[in-house]
Order: sequence, then C-alpha cells, then structure tokens
Amino acid sequence: MDSIHMYGGNFLRGEVKIQGSKNAVLPIMAAALLIKGTCVIKNCPRIADVYLMQNLLQELGCLVTWSENTVTIDASNVIDSAMSGESVSSMRSSVMLLGAMLGRIGEVFMAYPGGCVIGKRPIDLHLSALKEMGVEIMEQEHFFTAKVGRLKAMDYTLPFPSVGATENIILAAVLAEGTTTIRGAAKEPEITALCEFLRAAGADIEGAGEQTVVIKGVKELRETRYTVPGDRIVAGTYLIGALAAGGSIFLEKAPSEHMKALLKPAAQMGGTITINKGGVGIDVIRRLEAIPYLKTEVYDGFPTDLQSPIMAAMAVAHGDSVLEETIFENRFRIVDELRKMGADIRTEKNKAYISGIERLKGAVVEAEELRGGAALVVAGLEAEGETVIKNRHFIERGYEDICRDLRNLGADINIR
Ligand code: EPU
Repeated sequence: MDSIHMYGGNFLRGEVKIQGSKNAVLPIMAAALLIKGTCVIKNCPRIADVYLMQNLLQELGCLVTWSENTVTIDASNVIDSAMSGESVSSMRSSVMLLGAMLGRIGEVFMAYPGGCVIGKRPIDLHLSALKEMGVEIMEQEHFFTAKVGRLKAMDYTLPFPSVGATENIILAAVLAEGTTTIRGAAKEPEITALCEFLRAAGADIEGAGEQTVVIKGVKELRETRYTVPGDRIVAGTYLIGALAAGGSIFLEKAPSEHMKALLKPAAQMGGTITINKGGVGIDVIRRLEAIPYLKTEVYDGFPTDLQSPIMAAMAVAHGDSVLEETIFENRFRIVDELRKMGADIRTEKNKAYISGIERLKGAVVEAEELRGGAALVVAGLEAEGETVIKNRHFIERGYEDICRDLRNLGADINIR
C-alpha cells in the first residue's frame, strides 16, 4: 500500500504547475510563532513535512486551519514550551522552532533532532550561535532545554553557511535587543523567502540572500499574509524527469532565476531550455550527453537536493559522468537501487562515477529518503518495463502528488 508502480518509456508532454516551496514554508511556519495574532500563508504545499510542522505548532498552542493551499496560523496563545521526542525526531526542520520559541517566550524544551539517513546533521552551529545571543543550553542525553531572559544582538560569523543555522539566528534576532549581523550566512532563496515574510510582518532585515545579513531587533511583529514561491527542487526534479524520459514540458511557476545551476548542466546534457515570466520549459529530442564533472555546492552552486535525480539521468546518458557530493556525507544510498535497474555506477568516498547505458530496466526498488526516492521515479520514467518503488511515504514528505503531476504529463504511474 506504500508503493509507486510505473511503466517507463512514455515521452513527457504538457504543462504542470509547480507547488510552493517546502524549504521556504517550513521556517515561515515556525516564524508565525513570533506573531501574536494570525498570519495567512498562501501557496502552501500539502505535504507530509508541512503537516508535521502543523502538529508541532498545535502542540505549542497555535490554531492552524486550511483552505485549499492556504494555511492560517493563529499564534495568539503559545501555551507550552515542550516538544515531544516523537514529533521532533520525525522531522529535522523542527529545529527551526528553537529560534522562534526563544524569540517568542524565551524557553524551549526539545529532543535533539538527531541524524538521518543522508548524514549526521548535527545542530552545533545553531546552538553555538544562540549561546552568543545569551541563550543558556542545558543538555541531557536525548533532550535539551534552552532558556534566555532577553535575547541580545551579536556580530557573528558562521564557520559554514548552514541554511538551518542562518534561519534560526534570523528567527531569534528579529525581536532581540539591538542589531545582529550574521557574516558567512547561507544565501539560499528559501532564506530570502523567510526574510520577505518577516519583513512583511514588520521585521527590519537587510541583506537577505547575501553573505552578510543585518537584523535590527523590533519590539513586535504584526499579522501578515504571504505567498510562498515555487519549489525549485520539485521543478528541478520534473525537469530532470523530462531529460531522462524525453519530450517537451513546461513548468508553470518554476522559479527560473533560482534554477540556473541546474539549467546549465541540463542544456549541456541536451535539453533545450526556454524561460519566460510564467516558468521554465524544456525540450529533449535526442539521447542525453554525459557531464564529465558536476559537484554539489551551497547556493548558487548545484543543489545537493538534485544530486540523486540528476544521477538517475546520467545513468542513461552517452558517456561517463562524475558527480561529487560536498554537502552531506551519505547521499549516495540510491546507487544500490539504481544498480538493481542495471545502472553502471561506482562510488569512491564522496564521488560517484557513472557510465551511461542505453536504457535502465524496471525493478523493485526501495526509497530510503525523500530526494533519493524522487530520483527512483526519474529512473522509472525512462526504464523499460515495470518499476515498483517501495516506501512512497518518503517522497510524500516533499512532493504534493508526484504521480498526479507526472501522469498529467503522460507518464504511466500510479500508487498502490
Ligand atoms: N551542519 C553541521 N552543523 C550544524 C548545521 C549543519 O555540521 O549545526 C552540516 C550538516 O550536517 C550538513 C551541512 O552542514 O552536512 C549542511 O547543512 P545545512 O544546515 O545547510 O542544511 P539544513 O538546514 O539541515 C536544508 C534543507 C535541506 C537541504 C540543505 C542544503 C530544509 C528544511 N532543509 O537543510 O533539504 O539539503 O539545506 O541545501 O530547508 C530536502 O529538502 O530534502 C533537504 C534535505
């Protein structure tokens, strides 16, 4: 009951509307905690991770309601500072609630989000920065308590541009006393989206999306409305799907300006890209060419979240490709599954060496995490015969309905 069944070989044709961005909306939902009132978030994707964040907000006392893709969060009353181990460990982005709760009530008791299959993913950078802001952290084996009287501003240099740590510092700083400067901040578009939301609510932030972000603390935030931008990773997954399967598709609301690091290699592989105000189109009429070397990097480099999907396309390109992963230490788990489909891939440390074959063959494979699971769908679009992907729930963490979207583009794909 938790699998995807698909028959590969159909060209993809038509238009698909790209959902709102998961990694933008999760910190924005956390930011809603800073507002003593209601905020309305439009174009919110209806995905498992958003529902998990909703549950956490409700545990803390927020009222959350939905109407289609609009979510309304009323954080007038925050009644609890404890987050249960189970909710926190089921989603790493629950760590975003740390900065927001410290900003709102100055106290949190939560479980460590812990590692996950793509890597160890510690939160040391989040905690060191918050300590600089006067937060006292008391650590127990699986839990920690964070407490602060009044958050104080700081001038802080991040040793690595962590997306989550940058977001947590911003969330803590908007209501802190004085001006906080973050140097070496992450520049991902999802951080810009978080700052746009906070600014609409009255926060004073400059430099969002740049290396240095300056946040002047304000007394309070006001109720606001915000529309979440399109998800560059979902758009990228479908674009790579078209590369693998061939065809001609248009990704409505795909944020082309944030997808440059993918559009370049996609063109190199043989896709003809068109960009207009409404989104991004791709035409693929011949066999793909390999890319001699591609590595993942922080924004605006090639995103780690698209590393597995592009590997699935490289598996059927003409020639040899090398993919290097520089962000997470364990993001090649998909290789064994692609090999079951006939792919010729070997790994050595953080590099994958891919020799393209003519065509993959369908097989029963298992998703182990979100983006690896989506990559198996990309592989299944091209493969000969039936592909069964187990553990569909991992893919549902980030894709509203990958089967519906690809079926609308002509793929033979269903859930079972
Ligand atoms: N890191 C540390 N210590 C920290 C924080 C991070 O060592 O305190 C390390 C991590 O272990 C990792 C690297 O730094 O090796 C990058 O982590 P970062 O903090 O930048 O990433 P994140 O905030 O945990 C977000 C996205 C990920 C995306 C990465 C990189 C959200 C909810 N998650 O994670 O998205 O891969 O940035 O762009 O925004 C996904 O959507 O599937 C996903 C994993």
